[in-house]
Amino acid sequence: MNAMNVLIVGSGGREHALAWKIKQSPLCDSLFVAPGNAGTALVAQNLPIGVSDFDQLAEACLENDVHMVVVGPEVPLVEGIQDYFVSRSDLSTIQVVGPSAKAAQLEGSKDFAKAFMGRHGIPTAQYKTFQGGELAEACSFLEEMMPPYVLKADGLAAGKGVLIIEDLEEAKEALKDTLENDKFGSAGSRVVIEEFLDGIEASCFVLTNGRQYHLFPFAKDYKRIGEGDTGLNTGGMGAVSPVPFIDAELRKKIINRIVEPTVKGIASEEMVYEGFVFIGLMVCDGDPFVIEYNVRMGDPETEVVMPRLNSDLLALMADLPKDMQGGVKIDSRYATTVMAVSGGYPESYEKGKVISGLPTDAQGTLFHAGTTEKDGLVVTSGGRVIAATQLGETMNEALQKSFAQIEKVSFEGMYYRTDIGFDL
Ligand code: AMP
Ligand code: GLY
Repeated sequence: MNAMNVLIVGSGGREHALAWKIKQSPLCDSLFVAPGNAGTALVAQNLPIGVSDFDQLAEACLENDVHMVVVGPEVPLVEGIQDYFVSRSDLSTIQVVGPSAKAAQLEGSKDFAKAFMGRHGIPTAQYKTFQGGELAEACSFLEEMMPPYVLKADGLAAGKGVLIIEDLEEAKEALKDTLENDKFGSAGSRVVIEEFLDGIEASCFVLTNGRQYHLFPFAKDYKRIGEGDTGLNTGGMGAVSPVPFIDAELRKKIINRIVEPTVKGIASEEMVYEGFVFIGLMVCDGDPFVIEYNVRMGDPETEVVMPRLNSDLLALMADLPKDMQGGVKIDSRYATTVMAVSGGYPESYEKGKVISGLPTDAQGTLFHAGTTEKDGLVVTSGGRVIAATQLGETMNEALQKSFAQIEKVSFEGMYYRTDIGFDL
């Protein structure tokens, strides 16, 4: 295989971890990240282009002779970046790692995903979808369900589209807000009401070409802002891989009941899908259920999955249009990541705080999320700022190293959870 120039689209910790991994491949010639952050600048050339600016991304690909575009976040996928590249004859030789807009509906529409699971017998919570004008029907459906009530906005909602409500009257109010008052904007004009699944969550990652797949390491992320999984939901405050409770038997169930039927479903519906599937799982009494599909890698899960992948990620992705031969090699050690966030996050927070204590070592696994360079200094530019990833023979060893690493970093208002992995 010839060396390749690669463009990664995105600017978070996920994209830094992908860049760090891809850069290690002997197949990687030039590496670009658009728009990237201060961390990706250590391993790649950042291009100041937004993730939805397809024209400019295409220009940059042509200018820099890019062979492969790896799409990090869901928004450009749902907006059709893959279809855009396919539609332009001058871009036809550029491989896009990421599904078509149609297939991206697996993440872009909860109703689409639930119907897909229904067609392919994939275990998930019972549900029904309602739209504007169907408030009465939705309320009577709620009355048939047991609390707590799970309400999901149909469209992309940046992780804020799910409400879990104990009280029936409150749930009806929330339904009214979404179906009649457009509380979630257009994302909420349709609502999925589903059965509450009581269990423990885990994340499953698959690289597929729509016919074959590789299973990547499982991970568990910590979504709540507060210690002991309390407080508001965030993008993720830390992650652990592997997941100790996924033993051989559960792994087999996940593969047989969920991963294989998902890939077969994508194939039988002829979806154009060369990219990652991130399956959010809920394990209830030893049985796995799908909570959601995402059509990309997770963040911060990528920050623990990539360091455990011993295979060449770029080679695996380059094989997608052909045959996905062989398996993937996984490091048996634990990887943990601890996310340092801006004070106030996930509510309002300040940006532009100078970050000190950062290593300048491009090989290291202190992954940048919301950082940018300003006047020669690295400053905060987002809610999630730095993910400190470490490997260890045990989860505790990895965690102690992650905490030691994050303690060296400081910026005004910095906060992190000290209990990542507490429940495992
Ligand atoms: P989602 O955006 O679909 O991943 O949902 C966000 C979070 O809500 C999940 O990570 C779960 O913690 C929770 N959740 C979603 N659906 C359910 C469900 N049916 N039962 C229990 N918890 C759920
Ligand atoms: N960590 C969850 C996500 O990336 O959606």
